[in-house]
Amino acid sequence: MRLIIDTDTAGDDAFSILLALKTPGVTLEAITICNGNVDFAQQTENALYTLEIAGFSGKVPVYQGCPLPLLRKPVDATEFFGADGMSDAGFPRARQRPEKTHAVDAIIDLVMSNPGEIDILAQAPLTNIATAYAKEPRIAGAVRHLWIMGGTDNALGNTTPASEFNFYVDPEAAKMVINAGFRTTLSTWTLTMRSGVLPDAALARIEAMDTPLARFFMQVSQAPFARTSVRYGRPLSTHPDSLTCAMAIDESLITEAAACLVDVETGSELTRAYSSICVPLDEEEAKVDRLWPAGKPNCRVVRQADTARFAEMLIAVLGH
Ligand code: BDR
Ligand code: CA
Repeated sequence: MRLIIDTDTAGDDAFSILLALKTPGVTLEAITICNGNVDFAQQTENALYTLEIAGFSGKVPVYQGCPLPLLRKPVDATEFFGADGMSDAGFPRARQRPEKTHAVDAIIDLVMSNPGEIDILAQAPLTNIATAYAKEPRIAGAVRHLWIMGGTDNALGNTTPASEFNFYVDPEAAKMVINAGFRTTLSTWTLTMRSGVLPDAALARIEAMDTPLARFFMQVSQAPFARTSVRYGRPLSTHPDSLTCAMAIDESLITEAAACLVDVETGSELTRAYSSICVPLDEEEAKVDRLWPAGKPNCRVVRQADTARFAEMLIAVLGH
């Protein structure tokens, strides 16, 4: 598969990039940086360093995209990932430098010159993808598949009770992209908590592996471990982005999914970026249940994934 990863590289974003780089059969065509987790230049550095530690320095171009959300003030997640997004690891500056082309143009060029061939994994706020769509609406039909990590499936968020971080940062972009007509799979925070938390035994195996990538994984995970200990009572290794990447690489990891109608709240502050997700009614049923959403589904929403196989994919990559 040919893949673009749009990322606000910090923590699990980096592990997702490793999966794409190191799993056979995947060609990572570009990494595009979007506003989100930490300082914009730092996120770029984190992506470049991840390429370097994986042995891919100079082999995958990194493009910088939109440093701000469409309408809202920027929001970061430094309290979760550390100021540098990598648990304040103090990694050295990478040799590779970002490209001069803007990420939005790089996305449009790659997709429009290879219609039906490129998958996009959007694991950041959706500002870059929304802007690319606004500039070239035909990309919605030309992307082979859009994999979005974002939103919640009628459950508790991780940023506010109503919402997940990527949607919360840029709700207008999320609303635009979800309704743009891409062939889309949505991987929510609800799915992360259900299927994307690494089992203790898998984590222990990674901790015991003496490879550069396993050490990188443990180092980058320290701030999230400390933060999840406070929030959930014990350290959790949560993998919203890398689980989404794993499912994009191998769809058989998806064990339950539904064709849903998804929309994003942009009018309220209390429920900012809440993702409304349901199986829509058909025309006949809608005549009876007049207030329930009706119409055609716009997303496949993953409800369950194979955690054990995801863990094995990650372990295989970190063991290289
Ligand atoms: C998502 O938000 C970010 O903090 C993570 O990188 C992930 O993409 C999880 O809600
Ligand atoms: Ca991310």
